[in-house]
Amino acid sequence: MSGIIGYIGNKRVVPVVLEGLQRLQYRGYDSAGLAVIRDGVLQIRRAKGKLRNLEEVIRLNPLDGTYGIGHTRWATHGAPTEENAHPHRDCHGTVVVVHNGIIENYLELRRQLEAEGHRFTTETDTEVIAHLIEKHQNGLRAGAEEGSGRATSLEDAVRQAVRQLKGVFALAIISTKDLNKIVAVRQGPPAVIGLGKDEYFVGSDVPAILYHTRDLFFMGDGDVAILTPNGVKLTDFDGHPVTRRVQHISWDPILAEKGGFKHFTLKEIYEQPRAVRDTMLGRFSPETGQVFLDEMDITEDDFRSFREIKIVAAGTSRHAALAGKIMIERLARVPVEVDYASEFRYRDPLVDSRTLTMLLTQSGETADTIAGQREAQAKGSKTLSVCNVLGSMVPREANGTIYTHAGPEIGVGSTKTFTAELTALYLFAVYLGQIRSLLPPGDAKALLVDLTALPKQLESVLQKDEDFEDLARHFYRTSDFLFLGRGVHFPVALEGALKMKKLSYIHAEAYPAGEMKHGPNALITDGLPVVVIATCDSRSADSKLRYGRTIANIKEAKARGAAILALVTEGDREVTEMADHFITLPQTNELLSALVEAVPLQLLAYHIGVLRGCDVDQPRNLAKSVTVE
Ligand code: G6P
Repeated sequence: MSGIIGYIGNKRVVPVVLEGLQRLQYRGYDSAGLAVIRDGVLQIRRAKGKLRNLEEVIRLNPLDGTYGIGHTRWATHGAPTEENAHPHRDCHGTVVVVHNGIIENYLELRRQLEAEGHRFTTETDTEVIAHLIEKHQNGLRAGAEEGSGRATSLEDAVRQAVRQLKGVFALAIISTKDLNKIVAVRQGPPAVIGLGKDEYFVGSDVPAILYHTRDLFFMGDGDVAILTPNGVKLTDFDGHPVTRRVQHISWDPILAEKGGFKHFTLKEIYEQPRAVRDTMLGRFSPETGQVFLDEMDITEDDFRSFREIKIVAAGTSRHAALAGKIMIERLARVPVEVDYASEFRYRDPLVDSRTLTMLLTQSGETADTIAGQREAQAKGSKTLSVCNVLGSMVPREANGTIYTHAGPEIGVGSTKTFTAELTALYLFAVYLGQIRSLLPPGDAKALLVDLTALPKQLESVLQKDEDFEDLARHFYRTSDFLFLGRGVHFPVALEGALKMKKLSYIHAEAYPAGEMKHGPNALITDGLPVVVIATCDSRSADSKLRYGRTIANIKEAKARGAAILALVTEGDREVTEMADHFITLPQTNELLSALVEAVPLQLLAYHIGVLRGCDVDQPRNLAKSVTVE
């Protein structure tokens, strides 16, 4: 986890690094720090907690220079204390490292280094890297005196050191023994190099550097970049030159800003009509109803031949996958199994060349999802990813990708990702139904007409935000919530409960409404808020059947004292009459209703979180991308 940044050029480094860290905070916010070398002298500032604490430390004890590195941390090894905050250095204070990732063999390396006389001051795996580089830089062997060995360039020392590391890491390193240089390494977690005019950047993600340059390239696994004021050189771990394609990023940096909203989360909830529109843009013909996927290494014949689909994902993406399962099974009649990425990889999954494995991931960086993808590939399965971040790990390793075009998502609790992923899954389900000859063009066209209407419908839901805020005021003091739904509405209930836990710290559970009698009914006490998704597509007999059953569940819960908050479709009479509170949503087909239902549940969680004084953008103990197991 964590975010790294480095800058070398002719500007004052501290504001550049702090601003980059500000944009990387979504990756972790247990501590922050930066290191600068000026006139050969190393200066480090670190602070526990959020970036503002580091800013205060710097205000009291300023530092300056034209190159340096910074870090914002999500603690893995070692408590979130100042001592364990990055940057970390070796015992002589010559090599300084910031690190995102995990070093699996750090204890073994630490013991070896301690036996050679290195003294460690932190509990982190990262400190080992600094010691190791310092050892190679000085060419010191066990028992040799300091300074007696040949001095090696920083990049050579880094290359020697990283070859000894096991694990995943993105690093930025500076040294007082080799000035005016930042060495960056990627082996796993993302690292992007920004190319400015006489200034160069390394960062964990594009928004960290986008304000300074839009020309950049993503480092590949096994790359070492050497940044000096004169340019960037790229090699592999053995020193052989490497080239990567430079990209010009067209999105507006403002997209990664709050843009007048109080929180990123709120802004991102409001961006959903655009995110959904951009995700469907250019992917189907309204005239013929034909869906097109981007070019990929999975042919139509492959898609026709798969016997089953496994979807592997975590968090909100897994909830989208559960709704996607229903879409794909209904429209393309292929069995779909959805798994927690963290479970899939450890249970020797039954996957082979007749299985399509799909990876759903906003970031493309979730460690378990990457591991699941590799496991499936090793067993001969083709992989198709649905991802929001261009060039991230999962799409890079996949046989094909459907990108969601939601734009950067900064709020740690995903919102626009959910609806953008559902849009991509819906399109994929229609595509698969078409090429498997299960969807006549007329039916496909009707499904796509519904999709086209969706952004406007989402806008109309957002216009009712004040009502959701009122509901939040009514419920924010509760200590529990129950969310119920059937069919495609159950994954939405799961997502509603997850958002409530994450944004407001209120305990929330979600169940398929039909499971109530098997346990959750016992939880109902007087006044317990029960959110029931009771929408209905009156054109569908199945939907009406589910609606009828859900009404029975509402009656049972009400009889036991629950306070019912129901999500209903425009024109509803029955549920509206029996519910204590209700939210009316526009009519769409049942599969797409998942998207309109998600919005009020996100806003309810958001407003409750704000009323309870929670940090809705950065909930405690969490991070946006879980890049460690
Ligand atoms: C973390 C984030 C969630 C996200 C999940 C999966 O838990 O806080 O918002 O849904 O990771 O992330 P991914 O990037 O793989 O979709």
